[in-house]
Amino acid sequence: MAKVRSVFRCSECGASEPKWTGRCNGCEAWGTLVEETDGPAVGRVSLLAPTSAPIPIAEVDPTEFVARPTGVGELDRVLGGGLVPGSVTLLGGEPGIGKSTVLLQAAAEVASSGRKVLYVSGEESPQQIRLRAERLGALHPRLWLAAEIGIAQVVGAIDQVQPDLVVIDSIQTLVNPDLTSAPGSVGQVRECSHRLVQEAKARGCAIVLVGHVTKDGNLAGPRVLEHVVDTVLAFEGDRHHALRLLRVVKHRFGSTQELGLFEMTEKGLIGVPDPSGLFLADRRVGIAGSVVVPTIEGHRPLLVELQVLAASSNLPSPRRSATGLDNGRLSLLLAVLEQRVGVSTTKHDVYALAVGGVKVVEPGVDLALGLAIVSSLTGVPVPGDLVACGEVGLGGELRQVAHTPRRLSEAARLGFHRAVVPISAPAAPAGVQEIRVGTLAEAVSRLGLLPS
Ligand code: TYD
Ligand code: MG
Repeated sequence: MAKVRSVFRCSECGASEPKWTGRCNGCEAWGTLVEETDGPAVGRVSLLAPTSAPIPIAEVDPTEFVARPTGVGELDRVLGGGLVPGSVTLLGGEPGIGKSTVLLQAAAEVASSGRKVLYVSGEESPQQIRLRAERLGALHPRLWLAAEIGIAQVVGAIDQVQPDLVVIDSIQTLVNPDLTSAPGSVGQVRECSHRLVQEAKARGCAIVLVGHVTKDGNLAGPRVLEHVVDTVLAFEGDRHHALRLLRVVKHRFGSTQELGLFEMTEKGLIGVPDPSGLFLADRRVGIAGSVVVPTIEGHRPLLVELQVLAASSNLPSPRRSATGLDNGRLSLLLAVLEQRVGVSTTKHDVYALAVGGVKVVEPGVDLALGLAIVSSLTGVPVPGDLVACGEVGLGGELRQVAHTPRRLSEAARLGFHRAVVPISAPAAPAGVQEIRVGTLAEAVSRLGLLPS
């Protein structure tokens, strides 16, 4: 077979070079050349009959895209029912977060529902996967393993097994030997994923690709990948905590608002029906610097405890550290406290933390965080049966955030019967006593956090 020639194409201007260079000769951008296989040049386009005739939109058969459950409840919830045959899903996450585990569990569930599954691993040997499968109770005769890295061999294995579901663990290990670039490079990832998308469409099987993410949380290399797949899932969490969050970043077949929650256990990942209870399990009331905030993740209300420790510091620029919270919002709140509330932290290190290894970056946490900072500075605890939610503006004014009643219902369910909310917030559900305030300064004074 004649070897396919590869070229390096600039991702900015489209110019091509026979060899890789650091700088594009066309547009002079640095580091933009990506390897790809060189197809025949397209000349004049002649008119051809379309492969499928255009049809009125109402005559399209909607049953073609019916999701089939994987059997892993939280995964199906996030996907809006399950995986659609012929679709390609990308599951991204940091190493060690549990991508292989959840997909092996899903593979076994799908296999036990009577469908065939092919699990392709370029990272672990079949022996290693079998050992893990034994631990997870995932040994099933309809679950097939292949340890391959060549894209042609992977397609060969798909052809042999004829599976309903294919798991590729991971897309960064696959190679097309026609390209000289290394596995995991943008060119390879793009080439291999395009091929797999074609296979999924042609065969009507669902394919799930595992993708590693870099430290800054982006999918390594393949931004391109996000465009070619139908669904992008992100698996998040702190490796030192048991809780894992499954979010949907892009979904061609449904909502991107769902959130899946798992706990990593000895027996693999299990769904968490009551996450707020889990977050608050070890909470001690009466400690200064602790405030509970009702947040919303997707459609799910979550109660999270925020803790702040302000410790006196001799550093010329004291430390600010935010774990599970946005660093920028912490700095902003410290500035608002200084300017609008008259509470200074210039002589304090400030450590802020969202308990439980969860990340809360929405503006609704501002009010609770502001109260926790003041409480930690003055040593006056915020009452234990109270939650706070609202966004703080630069003038120290409070704004309501979306879904306040839903947040407060969840708070009431877990025994929090008082809530500090902005004046404009809609009426609270029964069982929650509101403390309506206009500014952060007013909230601080209503709770008596500043000793007179
Ligand atoms: P893994 O699925 O291999 O992560 P990824 O594929 O995202 O890199 O699993 C990560 C960790 O989970 C691993 O360090 C061990 C732990 N683990 C459990 O705690 N229980 C289990 O049942 C399994 C299979 C793994
Ligand atoms: Mg893995």
